[in-house]
Amino acid sequence: MSNADSSQTVFPRGFVWGAATSSYQIEGAWNEDGKGESIWDRFSHTPGKIANGDTGDVACDHYHRWREDVALMRELGLRAYRFSISWPRLLPEGYGRVNAPGLDFYNRLVDALLDAGITPFVTLYHWDLPQALQDRGGWPARATAEAFVEYADLASRSLGDRVKHWMPLNEPYISAFVGYLEGRHAPGHADMDEALAAAHHLLLAHGWAVPVIRRNAPGAQIGIALNLTAVVPASPSPADAEAARLRDGIINRWFLDPLAGRGYPADVVRHFGRSMSFVQGGDLKSIAAPLDFLGVNYYARTIVRSDAVPESQNEPPTVLPNAERTYMGWEVCPEGLYELLIRLRRDYTFSALYITENGAAYDDRVGPDGRVEDARRIAYLKRHLLAAGRALAEGVPLRGYFVWSLLDNFEWAHGYSPRFGLVYVDYATQRRIPKSSAYWYRGVMESGRVME
Ligand code: FCB
Repeated sequence: MSNADSSQTVFPRGFVWGAATSSYQIEGAWNEDGKGESIWDRFSHTPGKIANGDTGDVACDHYHRWREDVALMRELGLRAYRFSISWPRLLPEGYGRVNAPGLDFYNRLVDALLDAGITPFVTLYHWDLPQALQDRGGWPARATAEAFVEYADLASRSLGDRVKHWMPLNEPYISAFVGYLEGRHAPGHADMDEALAAAHHLLLAHGWAVPVIRRNAPGAQIGIALNLTAVVPASPSPADAEAARLRDGIINRWFLDPLAGRGYPADVVRHFGRSMSFVQGGDLKSIAAPLDFLGVNYYARTIVRSDAVPESQNEPPTVLPNAERTYMGWEVCPEGLYELLIRLRRDYTFSALYITENGAAYDDRVGPDGRVEDARRIAYLKRHLLAAGRALAEGVPLRGYFVWSLLDNFEWAHGYSPRFGLVYVDYATQRRIPKSSAYWYRGVMESGRVME
């Protein structure tokens, strides 16, 4: 990392440049070729759960259009592509019977990516649990972690000769706390004991899968993608400071500490005040399986007030009424990314970091000239890359960056109205239109430079 002059940031040769997606958000084909139902199929088919009644039934129809999508990635100069595998597409019941067409799909996708010179980064679990496993208790049940190992074994045995970057999980915090406590995500439950057990079994599933993937994919780099944030108190008051410490404990340390071999943070265990009897002998050791990298998903910082409920999404509108925000209402705060990266180096010992997601939603429109001009997204990405570049210059072992997302897609409970893509998707025709940010990002990937 060097700064040739003050007006540009130069990233090192070999820095990994990519974009990310996930299976349920882009694939569609929800019940085709033997795929089993997932908790997101069930949830999105339940009236009232998703904005506008949207579902992922068709999404970006990537399951049928993957060839054209890979061609587009190549044209846009992507060097790496992070995508997730749909567990119920491989194992319709979650374990046992294998669905061969599902495996064929990912085999072909991986081959096409490699032919296009694009390095696949595979996530195994980006929230689409087989409904059959939810029916047997879902993540609050330990058996789900056992089934996950079978799935991780199957996926890595099938693809491990070609896929060398693996993340068993994406954002276990969201799966556990938004799915089982807040209920805004599938399976839509609201039970603290379930959420804590789910978080533990997700981490356990991850830890058990790591050695299995290592065995099946020789030389692979294995990590995890966590949603991490810089947590700041809204005021200098001791009450806000205490609330911020707790919030950081729940969203960041509850996952980072056990992965780093420190077990669950004692202050947060005390705060929850619940039975942790789901933690069995040897679990913490399994969870701390050595990792090759930590994946950081960063969108915004979190400002905390003492009067807010710490376990819920902490939107700070009354704190910063004039902050610059994206379509999601999330504050644009590149400085938070810098602070987070520095903090991760200070407090933990991960040998490599990737930014596995970063990006912004806007209500992009196709102009009369047929183009999609998204200057605000370019500004967002540029400012976050400059912040990441500063952390890198200060010694943070940052190895790559993935934009969320390659395509506009199904944004969970928000449906299709937030558009996160570098590429616009016209859902009526499935036409893809690269936005101006896609061309800007191509230049960044080609040159390894970001101009201020
Ligand atoms: C992350 C998710 C991803 C996407 C972005 C906006 O939490 O991992 O699927 O929805 O947020």
